[in-house]
Amino acid sequence: MKTLLPYMKKYVNYAILSPILMILEVAANIFIPFYMSRIVDIGIVNRDVEYIVKTGLLMIGIAIVGMTFGIISAHCGARAGYGFAAEIRKEIFEKIQNFSFANLDEFTVSSLVTRLTNDCNTIGQVTMMSLRMAIRAPFMMIFALIMAFTINASLVKVFLVAIPFTAIILLIVLSKARPLFIKLQTRVDRVNAIIQENLTGIRVVKSFNRQDHEEKRFKERNDALMNTALSAISLVIFLMPVLNLVIYSTIIAVLWFGGQQILAGTMGGGELISFITYITQVLMALMMISFFFMQLLRGSASVSRVVEILDTESEIKEDTKPITAVKDGSINFNNVSFKYPASKEKTLTDINFNIKSGELLGVIGSTGSSKSTLVQLIPRLYDVTEGSVEVGGIDVRKYDLKTLRDNVAFVLQKNILFSGTLRQNMKWGNENATDEQIINALKQAQAWEFVSKYEDGLDHKVEQGGDNFSGGQKQRLSIARALMKSPKIIVLDDSTSAVDMTTDAKIQQAFKEELGDITTIIIAQRIASIQKANRIIVMHEGEIESFGDHETLLKTSPIYREIYESQQKGVAS
Ligand SMILES: Nc1ncnc2c1ncn2[C@@H]1O[C@H](COP(=O)(O)OP(=O)(O)O)[C@@H](O)[C@H]1O
Ligand SMILES: [Mg+2]
Repeated sequence: MKTLLPYMKKYVNYAILSPILMILEVAANIFIPFYMSRIVDIGIVNRDVEYIVKTGLLMIGIAIVGMTFGIISAHCGARAGYGFAAEIRKEIFEKIQNFSFANLDEFTVSSLVTRLTNDCNTIGQVTMMSLRMAIRAPFMMIFALIMAFTINASLVKVFLVAIPFTAIILLIVLSKARPLFIKLQTRVDRVNAIIQENLTGIRVVKSFNRQDHEEKRFKERNDALMNTALSAISLVIFLMPVLNLVIYSTIIAVLWFGGQQILAGTMGGGELISFITYITQVLMALMMISFFFMQLLRGSASVSRVVEILDTESEIKEDTKPITAVKDGSINFNNVSFKYPASKEKTLTDINFNIKSGELLGVIGSTGSSKSTLVQLIPRLYDVTEGSVEVGGIDVRKYDLKTLRDNVAFVLQKNILFSGTLRQNMKWGNENATDEQIINALKQAQAWEFVSKYEDGLDHKVEQGGDNFSGGQKQRLSIARALMKSPKIIVLDDSTSAVDMTTDAKIQQAFKEELGDITTIIIAQRIASIQKANRIIVMHEGEIESFGDHETLLKTSPIYREIYESQQKGVAS
């Protein structure tokens, strides 16, 4: 909770005002039964109509004042609670934006989604209720007890039985509830995970006819969630009749003992009525307290899940005095080894190579030979485990992250566009880009040929994930988006795999002619895509098998020659 308190700062006024107004409301409510007993014992007994009207009006006045305080207090409480939740949500969202890829490997996306939505909502609700109930209930209880005591001290003894009894029941229920609430959130996570996986892959599910299988998987998790929720709820449900039983037993006991006192003439009828009202208030307060503890448990499960994210340090830390300019696009790998946090073995071993600014570097190798891993180290998507990576002659860890990533444009293997228009997507690279600059980048990426055919051109709609474009179109748009940054280095990780050979050749041509001073790294499956590169790295099982230009590699690298020959055959036949 300590970690979260600072996020209340903006709403602290509301958080203080709500309980204060609440106390005023409680105080107002406390006086009503008192005046009621006076109406009965003085007004009715003496047949004094004027007294009854006057006291009645006073009661209405107090009730209205109490209600007004109550409404404003509820409003403040809601503001504080939901404002608090919104601040936390904002902070988590920002935190996730700064997460390194390694952090993202650790938390699953679905669990992040549940924490951002479900857990934050719970925290907001619980805060709101705590502000109201945690203050209201004890005050109500104390006030009502005092009033009951002043009316008839001897009858208060009934509480000596009722309160400990209720407390014991509460303790038993609460001790069972906590593990259930923690389990409940994990179950929500699991349902979210399957929904997300299924919906993102819905087309694959359909084409493999796996709907039945998926439905079964979903049903299992959904049922598990339902059962946990039911067990949690049945605890709450159990609490209600038990507490009601306590309330009614207490009232009967009071009627019994109070009745005897009335018969003996030591107590007025009105006093007994208001005494019962106070007793009900005390027991209601007890019920509220139990409900509050229940909520608190639910909230504490959510708080620990949220704090877990907030306490995660990004794996990628910035230098205290970061460098904010990249001199050129040269790249050096010095004795680099790399291991994914989750894996035991090194994914890259002892990588050494240098390329000059403006060169075109090709990377080839079988899938799983760590090509993607290699290039992800350049914009610090991951940090090296050993050795160093230099851009422009300076260790990448010394740069300001934004500077580094603005200068190293990266087109990921999986291209994702965001819902909106084409223009909006292109402006990701450069917010102030003119249409002319956008069209220019689209031309270089060979995307203009299809974009220019749209009637609405750059205003053409992009669906979520870019699903309304073909794989090859998405790849070309992603390349254009990366070019918008005017980077010093551009990395294409298998970004033309879905583009036909002719267009691919055109992209290579455009890159060579128009991006002369940008260092370009192309990871490709087809030798044709990298044949013209100044230098080519052949990756094999996390190591550089050979390094050289096309002609040299044909002579010196068996792996390269094998790939080349297999692809030549493909072309010939
Ligand atoms: N996020 C990750 N966490 C753990 N291991 C990973 C991760 N990404 C890739 N790997 C592993 O690293 C190896 C190299 O993967 P990758 O660099 O993607 O190969 P390539 O791009 O050459 O196909 C593979 O064995 C893969 O399973
Ligand atoms: Mg790859």
